[in-house]
Amino acid sequence: MNRYAHVVGWGMAVPEKVLTNDDLARMVDTTDEWIVSRTGIRERRIAGPKETTASLAIEAATRALEVADISPDEIDMIIVATSSPEHIFPSTASLVQDALGASRAGAFDLSAACSGFIYALGMATNSIKCGSMNTALVIGSETLSRLLNWSDRGTCILFGDGAGAFVLRGSDVTGGVMSLVMRSDGSGGDLLTVPAGGSKMPASYETVRDNLHTIQMDGRAVYRFATRVMIQSTREAVACAGLQLSDIDAIVPHQANRRIIEAAARGLELPEDKFVINVERYGNTSTASIPIALCEAVEKGRVKPNDHLVFVGFGAGLTWGASVVHWDVTPPPPLDTWGRLRRRTLTGVAKVRSGLRRVGRQLEGVVYGKNAPEGEEPPHVKKK
Ligand code: ACO
Repeated sequence: MNRYAHVVGWGMAVPEKVLTNDDLARMVDTTDEWIVSRTGIRERRIAGPKETTASLAIEAATRALEVADISPDEIDMIIVATSSPEHIFPSTASLVQDALGASRAGAFDLSAACSGFIYALGMATNSIKCGSMNTALVIGSETLSRLLNWSDRGTCILFGDGAGAFVLRGSDVTGGVMSLVMRSDGSGGDLLTVPAGGSKMPASYETVRDNLHTIQMDGRAVYRFATRVMIQSTREAVACAGLQLSDIDAIVPHQANRRIIEAAARGLELPEDKFVINVERYGNTSTASIPIALCEAVEKGRVKPNDHLVFVGFGAGLTWGASVVHWDVTPPPPLDTWGRLRRRTLTGVAKVRSGLRRVGRQLEGVVYGKNAPEGEEPPHVKKK
């Protein structure tokens, strides 16, 4: 029997702090008029000192689990698509798994820049379809404000912080994620990059002094690439799903620049109102932009049950991707009172359990650490 991956939960989270174009004009040589006319962006959200990529991801995921009405211990896999992970390791996804109390879940981060959410959707869908898992939490979360050079007017005006999450579930019912296109052209890797902080150029006094830990971009080249692949991959994903463009009810594109979306609309010969656009309020939130736009569109009734949607994105790598989703919204039957109580309790005790595990590891260190006789192994290691 064929398996299908359905979106059964969705949620978003954005920081409270709003940074307007006028605020930016006090920081760099720019104007509200320039930013709006070139990008469509009016304001963006910026993470506060206590907000991180993981904390925004946890908030969005908690909402998505509530919509799906499932408990964290039903999740098989957590994928966090991000370009601004909490650390190089551990993965942001593992931190989210711990905080949610998703005790049965595997977790990993996925790096495909702004196309990351589509790639993560693809990985989860294919795993559900082949039967290796049944429930996946797919998150796009970013605090790109931490990777910006706030004196570079060419980049600091574009990006914002936020997170969006989907819960995907396997079902025998036809529908859900209908097609996926995932592509890359690494020859354009230098067009959009954070050069330092990885293994090629580790952090040093010089890299920090020269701002090499911040986003560097050839905006015009990215613009040309973006308009081309948005059109190509939308057509490809729609054809793979066995549909025509006229069957599509709404396109939810990566929110990088209003002009790029308008160009894609012209290229696809579709009216602009087919596109869900909220870039004016959040800027480019990278992997989070598609799920955030989707959440708002559902809330406003712009996306309705049984709609056929296209998600399409592009980003550094270069990478791009698109997916057709039948928004059939077939959530599993609601949990009974016991199920609800169990979910709340699991989430509530997650922090306590995490703390106890830390204490347990410390005790293990005392017992089997430097005080243990030489050569003594813990009991779970078999003696030679
Ligand atoms: N305010 C005022 N002037 C500016 C600003 C600013 N914020 N930024 C640049 N300018 C100036 C430039 O210096 C240039 O001046 P010059 O002509 O005297 O040299 C002039 O404006 C035009 O600059 P361009 O770069 O040609 O402007 P353009 O119309 O291409 O717009 C932009 C720039 C908005 C960056 C556009 O190229 C773009 O959106 N590109 C795509 C970027 C993108 O989407 N990146 C994210 C990809 S997703 C990911 O993976 C992260």
